Amino acid sequence: MSRTVYETATSLDGFIADQDNSLEWLFTVESEPEDEGHGEALDRTEEFIRGAGAIVMGATTYEWIHRHEGGKPWPYQVPTWVLTHRNLPRVAGDLRFTSADTDQELQDLHADMVRAADGRDIWVVGGGRIAANLARLGLLDEVSVSVAPVSLGGGAPLLDGRVRLKPLEAKLAGPFACLRYAVVRD
Ligand SMILES: NC(=O)c1ccc[n+]([C@@H]2O[C@H](COP(=O)([O-])OP(=O)(O)OC[C@H]3O[C@@H](n4cnc5c(N)ncnc54)[C@H](OP(=O)(O)O)[C@@H]3O)[C@@H](O)[C@H]2O)c1
Repeated sequence: MSRTVYETATSLDGFIADQDNSLEWLFTVESEPEDEGHGEALDRTEEFIRGAGAIVMGATTYEWIHRHEGGKPWPYQVPTWVLTHRNLPRVAGDLRFTSADTDQELQDLHADMVRAADGRDIWVVGGGRIAANLARLGLLDEVSVSVAPVSLGGGAPLLDGRVRLKPLEAKLAGPFACLRYAVVRD
């Protein structure tokens, strides 16, 4: 059965992008030689992303990827839903632009993703409002974060809403703390 997993990197103070929507703070985190052998948790993250059967993200996240890929074909083979109210620039690939302004629309979208994923997991890339809304509707199973050793003081929140979680796993992966939580359904 498909699991719906919010898999992302975050700052220690809970931001997935800084106030300028930049990820530079993430890419400048460096491993130390003594971190070698801590790669298992990051391998699991890569394996999750490779195995996902559907992807969902918001417009800001899509625009970031689009800018950084410089018009190259979409890097993921599986269907990707982009939530937006605008006409965003397209690239080649299975991209599905849509909006989901009501709970019913978000539930319908999730049902479409489950069908497309056909038993594989659904990767919620971000942002934090989409992940929190899926959790509120009982549609998010897991939050899996790689916590970078940096604080930002502001930016795009990891989870924009109240979500109760149950810890599943905590591992070091180089300079990152990889934490997995199950979403507690009320
Ligand atoms: N650290 C990481 O690993 C990581 C992972 C993911 C993202 N990020 C970064 O984090 C930031 C996230 O940005 P963000 O918090 O603004 O979130 P976002 O979800 O990427 O984008 C928010 C925008 O998406 C559209 N949207 C969201 N929900 C919608 C819905 N239900 N229906 C229709 N449109 C909807 C709206 O745009 P419009 O109405 O204007 O179309 C909204 O302003 C980005 O800078 C991204 O690059 C970092």
